[in-house]
Formats: sequence, structure tokens, C-alpha cells
Amino acid sequence: MTDIPDGFDAFVAEKDGDVVRRGVRRLAPADLPAGEVAIRVAWSGVNYKDALAAIPDGRVARISPLVPGIDIVGTVTASDDPAFTPGDLVIAHGYEIGVSRHGGFAAYARVPAGWIVPLPPGLTPREAAAVGTAGFTAADSVATLEARGLAPSDGPVLVTGASGGLGGLAVRILLARGYETWAMTGKPAAAERLRSLGVAGVVGREEAAAGDGRALGPERWAGAIDCVGAATLPWILRTLRRGAGVAASGNASGPALATTVFPFILRGAALLGIDSSQVPIGERRALWGRIATDLRPAGLGDDTTEVGLDGLPDALDAILAGRAEGRWLVRLGG
Ligand SMILES: NC(=O)c1ccc[n+]([C@@H]2O[C@H](COP(=O)([O-])OP(=O)(O)OC[C@H]3O[C@@H](n4cnc5c(N)ncnc54)[C@H](OP(=O)(O)O)[C@@H]3O)[C@@H](O)[C@H]2O)c1
Repeated sequence: MTDIPDGFDAFVAEKDGDVVRRGVRRLAPADLPAGEVAIRVAWSGVNYKDALAAIPDGRVARISPLVPGIDIVGTVTASDDPAFTPGDLVIAHGYEIGVSRHGGFAAYARVPAGWIVPLPPGLTPREAAAVGTAGFTAADSVATLEARGLAPSDGPVLVTGASGGLGGLAVRILLARGYETWAMTGKPAAAERLRSLGVAGVVGREEAAAGDGRALGPERWAGAIDCVGAATLPWILRTLRRGAGVAASGNASGPALATTVFPFILRGAALLGIDSSQVPIGERRALWGRIATDLRPAGLGDDTTEVGLDGLPDALDAILAGRAEGRWLVRLGG
């Protein structure tokens, strides 16, 4: 099976001693990993994990050279698996994609059939890319909190990293579902934009960083979605209401977690880990079906910036520095 042209463009990150060289190269079909399905990539997205995959000590890339890009949205051009036929619109993300096998920053990709999600009715390819891994993880976070009993009538729900990809989409999903949604951001300029979306309040990131030495704070949140980690997650645990949970998915400000046990043993707080990369394919397809319907983010596709492969160095640097806002989409054939 191959329906991939002899030469196509790809953005490649390659380790060279202590540095990672990044740039656009021509690849051939033989450069792509094995897989039953060939895809002409229409869109990818720029995720924090992609930025980590393209720096020396990011601890994400498992091969070198690597085509990063943990998100793939495109059209099947050939398939050895009868489940897919040329022309099918598909999404692929998670598992090894963009980590230990080439990902979406290329005009073509080859992917195992068992990792592919048919584009659900109700989403365009561009909208699916605007959701991407960030929005899928946001939807997983909301679904996990709700499976534990969270409902809009329970009270305020906090989202951190609210100007970023995952956080921004979590805000939009919660607003669409009628939650009293609060946003934490480190960007004062983003606060007005978040308010205009409909958030009930904005908390500055410095409030979480400050800390006052107390093991427990006022009971504020009926639930929380955190992709920032470091000082922010312990602050959330200290300010969750009795019995509330936080869905923790990220480490945008660092991986350390310094907390006491008091939120757990005195308030019954729940720390709910979210790992979108290994969600089994049946659940992954079902959750995408919900993203197209009852978990659809409000104003999906509004808060996006498009780049081509040659715009990736700037986009990757911006996301790593915390300067990026919303979702950055990589336009290939889209
Ligand atoms: N567990 C999973 O399955 C999964 C899936 C996707 C992503 N993630 C993780 O979730 C996090 C967010 O990913 P993303 O793709 O949404 O990234 P992103 O678009 O860059 O958003 C991250 C946001 O975090 C905030 N932030 C706080 N401290 C920061 C710091 N020191 N440096 C940079 N940003 C900081 C910023 O928002 P404000 O300025 O508004 O505070 C930033 O926009 C990452 O850690 C990523 O690895 C995990």
C-alpha cells in the first residue's frame, strides 16, 4: 500500500549533539513508519508537547530525526484495512504519534488503522484540528469530572492556563454546557477576552503562586481543570470545596507537586489524572462523537492562528515561552 508521492515536505527535528536542528526537508514514502493507512495531512496543530519534542531536554521525542506533530487531520489516500477507503476524512492523535513515530508536521503520514478516528459528522476538518489533542484532553477532563457527579448547578468551576490551547477549549466546553466558569491566566491582556466569552471571573496566576503557608484555604471551586501544575495545582487542592475534584492534565509551569494530605483527608478532595495519549480507540472515537455534539466548545475555531511549516519555529518558541494564545493550526493541504 502506498499512495504517497515520491517527495513531500516535512518539518523535521533532529538531535545534533546538544542541540536540536529544526527545519523543512523533503521526505520520501520510505521515510514514513509502517501502518495500514496513508493520509494526506490537511491540518495539524501546535501543542505544548510538540514544542517539547523539538528541544534538547524536552523528554518527549523518542526518535531522531522526528517529524513532530501529535495531531493529524486529513484524507485517506490508501488503506490496507477495509475499515478505511481513499477519500475518508480522518483524525489521528495520541499513542506514539509525533513522539516515537513521525507525526502531523508533514504533507503525508502513515498510521495504524487501529489508531484512527473517522471525522464525526458535525465537525469540519479545520474544526477537528482546532480541537486537536488540546480540546480532546479538555473534553476528557470535563467528562471525567461529570462522571464523578459534577453538574452545572454545583457552582464555580476553575480552568487554569485559560489563554492556552487546552485551557481555552476547556473554558469553551464548560461555557457551552452552562457552567459558572472561572478562568486563571498569567496574561492580564487575556482577561478581557475571557470575560467577553462569558466567564464569571478571572483569577491572576500570581494568586496561586503567592501561597500563604496555610494547608487549606477558602472553599471556592466545585471542580477544576488544571494544565499548569507546579504551584497552581496545590493551590487548587487547597481551595476546592468539600468533595470536589480537579482534573489534572499538564505541567506547563513545571512537573513538581508539593502538597499536604489535608485537602484529601479533611475535605475529601479528588485528584483525577488525565492521560489523553493512551485512551483506547473505542473510547477515543466515542469522545470525538461527543465533541461534535454535547461537548462541542462554544465558538469553536474562533480563537486560532494559522501557520505553514515554515512558521513552525516561531510558533513552537512562542508556546514554550507561554506567549501563545488559543490554538495554533498548521495548514498543510487544508
Ligand atoms: N495529559 C494529557 O493528555 C495532555 C494533553 C494535552 C496537553 N497536556 C499538557 O497540558 C499543558 C497545556 O498544553 P497546551 O497544548 O494547551 O499548551 P499551551 O497552549 O501553551 O497552554 C499552556 C498555558 O499554560 C499557562 N502557563 C502557566 N504557566 C506557564 C509557564 N510557566 N509556561 C508556559 N505556559 C504557562 C499559559 O496560560 P495563561 O497565561 O493563561 O496562564 C499557557 O498559555 C501542557 O503541560 C501539556 O503537556 C497534557
